[in-house]
Amino acid sequence: MSDKAILEYDGKRYEFPVIKDTENELAIDIKSLRSSTGMITIDPGFKNTGSCESEITFLDGEKGMLRYRGYAIEELAEKADFLEVAYLLIFGELPNKEQLETFHEDIKAESQVDEEMKKILDGFPKSAHPMGVLSSLTSALIAFNPTSVNISSEKDMYHAIVKILGKFPVLVAWTMRKKKGLPLDYGDDNLGYVENLHKMMFKKPSKEYKSNKIVIDALDKLLILHADHEQNCSTSAVRITGSSHAGLFVSLSAGISALWGPLHGGANQAVIEMLEAIKEDGGDTHKYMDKAKDKNDEFRLMGFGHRVYKNFDPRARIIKKAADEVLEDLGIVDPILDIAKSLEKVALEDEYFVERNLYPNVDFYSGIIYRALGIPREMFTVMFAMGRLPGWIAQWREMRLRHEPIGRPRQVYIGKTYRPFKPLEER
Ligand code: CMC
Repeated sequence: MSDKAILEYDGKRYEFPVIKDTENELAIDIKSLRSSTGMITIDPGFKNTGSCESEITFLDGEKGMLRYRGYAIEELAEKADFLEVAYLLIFGELPNKEQLETFHEDIKAESQVDEEMKKILDGFPKSAHPMGVLSSLTSALIAFNPTSVNISSEKDMYHAIVKILGKFPVLVAWTMRKKKGLPLDYGDDNLGYVENLHKMMFKKPSKEYKSNKIVIDALDKLLILHADHEQNCSTSAVRITGSSHAGLFVSLSAGISALWGPLHGGANQAVIEMLEAIKEDGGDTHKYMDKAKDKNDEFRLMGFGHRVYKNFDPRARIIKKAADEVLEDLGIVDPILDIAKSLEKVALEDEYFVERNLYPNVDFYSGIIYRALGIPREMFTVMFAMGRLPGWIAQWREMRLRHEPIGRPRQVYIGKTYRPFKPLEER
């Protein structure tokens, strides 16, 4: 097989190296394209463009396969906990017992959020969407942690990482408590990372907090499944923001904003809203399938389709099974789950969906579990952000340590060519 790709244009021939990644996928290296040909490429949505080389996550969209640092998502979801996965994503290896304990202790030591942050939270109306609040609070953290990270110092880098892993769950919990009118609370260092997050979200002022293993395990699994997904929209936002050498916290804030959209993480909220609308409307899934296929209708089947997966999203498979188990374990009967299953069945047999390889994605069933765990709908995407946090950190860290250049795409200009200025009276 040739290790060069040839481009012929205007009677000239140009050669570009073809590189093979560790999973034997090929890429044409066009770094010298503009300097040698004077041309650029155009690829809206970056559907064919690799923005970086990365060692973190591999996914094969055709086979429906996802691995973090070489480990299959199915195994991690079954056998690891969220903190181990966070460590794996960020530092490249599963931690041993001692490393994990130290990591957790260091995170706990940083879990205090400056009291003044509460004033910022107070400034938001109760009606504000928790994702907007979370993005603002994450960015505001910079005011209380002003030193930028010295990326040449491993110690500094580690400190910044445990700091955000410590403070972020507090912010997540506060966005929900604000919405619910509950007093802001801190965690308990005796609890596990995910258990503590749950406590901070749900502890009632007048009741002792009691955790439920089924709930904590389900939450842990969901966080693992969301922890990284290579160069998706929010991760690209984190990397491109950080590529200007903006700090870690603001880069994460950019990622949260990008995640909020309904085509990305916001889909989990949109799915439940869609399923509820279908239920209210009599449960006719075929009617909504027709709407989704109608090119004159803006409606899309939320939780279906993916930029990279052209087969079942492996996370959706795991979440569907978990939704069944969690609802059964908690003794919850949710008619929305039946609607979701029947919608999935209809879609998987429908020519339009089959032709376009549209399968359920991670967001299709996750909202059903969140509902069963008592998490309000507007918090679903916040939970996604909580899960994605280690992935964003890992990607930001990798980008900085590889000294990647500032992200700055080019464009094909289609506007007016030069025209002389027209004075006001002539317009
Ligand atoms: N319902 C109906 N038609 C769809 C859907 C859908 N959910 N998704 C894609 N299509 C159609 C689309 O209209 C297009 O048809 P045609 O070829 O006739 O023009 C074709 O399938 C290809 O779609 P695309 O929009 O070009 O694909 P994309 O890679 O740009 O978009 C997507 C991927 C995830 C944005 C899209 O599938 C979508 O909008 N899905 C619904 C929102 C959703 O569930 N998002 C969560 C994604 S997974 C988690 C995450 O990233 O956060």
